[in-house]
Amino acid sequence: MTRGTVVAIDQGTTSTRAIRMDGFGHIQHKSTRDLACMYPHAAWVEQDPEDIWQSALAVLSDVVQDDTLAIGIANQRETIVVWDRKTGVPIYNAIVWQDRRTAALCLSLVNEGAEAGVRSKTGLLIDPYFSASKLAWILDHVAGARERAARGELAAGTIDSFLLWRLTGGTVHATDATNAARTMLYDITTHSWDMDLLHLFDIPAALLPSVRDNCHLFGETSPEVLARRLPITGMAGDQQAAMIGQCCFARGTIKSTYGTGCFMLANVGASPVISKARLLSTPIYKIGAEKAYAIEGSIFSAGATISWLRDRLGLISSAADTEALAAEAPADHGIHLIPAFVGLGAPYWRPDARASIIGLTFDTDRATLVRAALEAVAFQTTDLLSAMMDDSLANVGSVRIDGGVSTNNWFAQFLSNMLNMDVERPEDHDSTAIGAAFLAGLTIGLWSGFADLEAMWHRSASFSPQLSPDERQARLAGWNLAVRQTLTTPV
Ligand code: G3P
Repeated sequence: MTRGTVVAIDQGTTSTRAIRMDGFGHIQHKSTRDLACMYPHAAWVEQDPEDIWQSALAVLSDVVQDDTLAIGIANQRETIVVWDRKTGVPIYNAIVWQDRRTAALCLSLVNEGAEAGVRSKTGLLIDPYFSASKLAWILDHVAGARERAARGELAAGTIDSFLLWRLTGGTVHATDATNAARTMLYDITTHSWDMDLLHLFDIPAALLPSVRDNCHLFGETSPEVLARRLPITGMAGDQQAAMIGQCCFARGTIKSTYGTGCFMLANVGASPVISKARLLSTPIYKIGAEKAYAIEGSIFSAGATISWLRDRLGLISSAADTEALAAEAPADHGIHLIPAFVGLGAPYWRPDARASIIGLTFDTDRATLVRAALEAVAFQTTDLLSAMMDDSLANVGSVRIDGGVSTNNWFAQFLSNMLNMDVERPEDHDSTAIGAAFLAGLTIGLWSGFADLEAMWHRSASFSPQLSPDERQARLAGWNLAVRQTLTTPV
C-alpha cells in the first residue's frame, strides 16, 4: 500500500467539511465551517457562492499536509451557479436545491405531458428540486444573462464544477456523471447531455461542463490556491459519495444519509430501474465501463428541521440535546410534525405543501416537540423504504445510516423500530467525505478496488427492531393520517 494521504471536501448545504485519510482508511484530521442560507422570499433558498468557495478553501487548507497525494470532492447536488468565464465571478447567488421558485414552470411542463420523456432519460421527476429550471430562471431573470451565455461568456455548473473551476484557477470546466445526472439535462443511460432536454429548458449547451467519470484526473490546483500543486482525482454528488463511503457496492444494499435533508439510496445494479413508486433513478458511479445505479428517495428536511428547532424556535442549544429530550418525552404524545418547510419530496412530490404540527395540547412541551421532529425524520425514512419495497428491491437485510442525525442513539433505535429492520452505523458518520476520499484514492492507486474499501468499513453500532407489530402499525397509521391532513390543507 502506498504511503501518503488523500483529502476530501464535503461541501454540504449547512456546512463544508474536509477530512484527511491515510491508506488504511483512518481519518487523521477533520475540519468544518458552517455555511449560511438566505431566504429572500417564501420557499426561495440561496447561498453566496463566494462563501461556499471560501469555506471549501479554508477546510481544504486545514487538512492538506506534506504527504497529501490527491483531493476528492463531494457536494450538495442540484444547487446551481452561473459565473463569468473570464473573471470567475458568479452572476447570481447559488440557487439551492431546496429552492421552490420554479414550481409553476415545473407544473406547466408536467401538464404539457413532458414528464414521461424526462423520466425515461434522466430517471428524475419534473420538480424544482433539480438544476434545470433553476438555471433557466437565472438566464431569464439576470439582466443580459441570455445574451452573455449566447456569446460564450458564461459557465454554469453544480457546486463540484464551481469548486473545480476555482481550485484549478479557472482552467477546468467539468463535472462528474453523478452530479450531471441531477441537473435533469443528462441522459443517465447514454451518459451524455441530452439535446431535447436542453431545448425543453432553453439551456445553451455551451454553458455546461464536460462530464467525466467519478475517478478521473479532473485537474490540478492552481499555485494561487494551494502552495503545492495537488491533483483533483475524485468527484461525486454527496449522496453517491456516501454510497461509496458506506461500501454499498452490492445490489440491494441501502444507505440513508442524514444531512440537511435525508437521502436513502438502494443499489439496483448495473442498469437503471425506473421506480413505480415515484422514487428517483440515479447513477451511483461511473468508473470506466463499471456502472452502478440506485433508486433514491429524497427528503428535503431532516437535519434542517433540527436546525429550525435550535435557530428559529430556540428549543435546544445544540443538536446533541435532542437525544435526551426525545427519550424523556412520552411515547403516546399524539403530536405529528410534518416538516414540509420547502414542500415534501419522495414519495409525495408536493412542492406546494407547507409544514404543520398536528395534535398540540396544553400538555405539549419542548421534549415532545423535539421527539416529534426526530420521529418525523424516521417516519419519512420509513415512507421511502416502503416505496422501495413496492419497487421489489431484493436482498434488503439492513440499512446503513450516516450523517449528523445518525449519531443520535434514540433516533437510530426509533428508526429501526419503524423500518422493522436492522440499522447499522459505521465507525465514522462522515460517509460522504469518506466516499470522496475513496474515489480520489482509487484513481491514484492508493487502493486497488472496491474490495480494499470494503475491508476498511467497520460497523460501530447496530440497532434491531423492538416494537410489537401492532404498536408499529398504529404509529405509522398516525403519521400517514397527519401527512394526508397536511397535504389537503390549502396554504
Ligand atoms: O440533493 C441534495 C443533497 O445533495 C444535499 O445534501 O448533505 O446538504 O443534506 P445535504
